[in-house]
Amino acid sequence: MNRRWALVFPKHWREQYEEDMAVNLAHTRLGPRAIFDVARGAVVAWAHPRAKPLHMDGPGRELAPINRTVHDREPAVRLLGSSRYYRTANSEVGAVVDATLAIRRGESVALMGPSGSGKTTLLNLIAGLDRASAGTVWVLGRSLSELSEAELTAFRADNLGLIFQQPHLLAGLSALENVIVARLPWEPRSVLEPRARDLLEGLGLGGRLNFPPGRLSGGEVQRVGIARALLVNPSLLVADEPTGSLDASATQEVLEILRRLKEDLGLTLVLATHDQEVAEAMDRVVRIAGGRLQAA
Ligand SMILES: Nc1ncnc2c1ncn2[C@@H]1O[C@H](COP(=O)(O)OP(=O)(O)OP(=O)(O)O)[C@@H](O)[C@H]1O
Ligand SMILES: [Mg+2]
Repeated sequence: MNRRWALVFPKHWREQYEEDMAVNLAHTRLGPRAIFDVARGAVVAWAHPRAKPLHMDGPGRELAPINRTVHDREPAVRLLGSSRYYRTANSEVGAVVDATLAIRRGESVALMGPSGSGKTTLLNLIAGLDRASAGTVWVLGRSLSELSEAELTAFRADNLGLIFQQPHLLAGLSALENVIVARLPWEPRSVLEPRARDLLEGLGLGGRLNFPPGRLSGGEVQRVGIARALLVNPSLLVADEPTGSLDASATQEVLEILRRLKEDLGLTLVLATHDQEVAEAMDRVVRIAGGRLQAA
């Protein structure tokens, strides 16, 4: 890393992201804009750290690349007696209790249940955002409980697409920048940008690439969130109420996209929804009540 960057970044960022920044630097045109891009990426990386597991964890702990041909025969998701308890001083809430579920490759599943029934908790276990208190969670052939925190973060970043009710786009950035910014510290803009552009165009936002979120409709904002989730070419898409804050017409827009992802790309999709129409578009509906999955 040259001196210019030493001026821009605090020391602990430089130590953590040195190599990535150097890669970015090599691929980005120099100038104030490039410095701004990389600094912004570093801020995002700092807010959502993807720790480097390999060096810290010592030799022999490397996350082996996923051998898709072997694991393709396994379900995309397999829960075996998985539970998540929240313990407070004088009570224990079983947000998910003894969940057993298999989701095949390419299958799309809607998780339905009343508010507080455990949908978000279950999706967070599958997405590796939370860890089971008991039982096992296998995703794409990996037992998530056996991964270190750093390995889990890396696994999630490389394999999963996450869609939330609100995509929380950054207000100061364009639609295109919002799609690429979270990966900017690890992949050069020259690689990310054409792919993001293709995705946004494919999602009908070709004319909105340079719009900030404030000038997009609710459905368009969610489509930007979907493009961001697809940027890593995920094997599994996990969506928590993706149409939960949308009106009827925006729900239709997003639903149409989910259908295409499922049918054209054959993505494995698991989503929580309160919307009957969204649920019916999936291959299977799984019901949950009081933290327990209901027999179909
Ligand atoms: N961090 C937490 N600490 C304690 N209890 C929690 C925590 N997160 C969730 N819970 C409890 O776990 C249960 C399941 O919550 P969860 O958010 O998974 O429900 P949900 O089905 O997603 O509801 P909604 O449809 O409203 O989004 C609820 O009783 C909730 O109060
Ligand atoms: Mg929820």
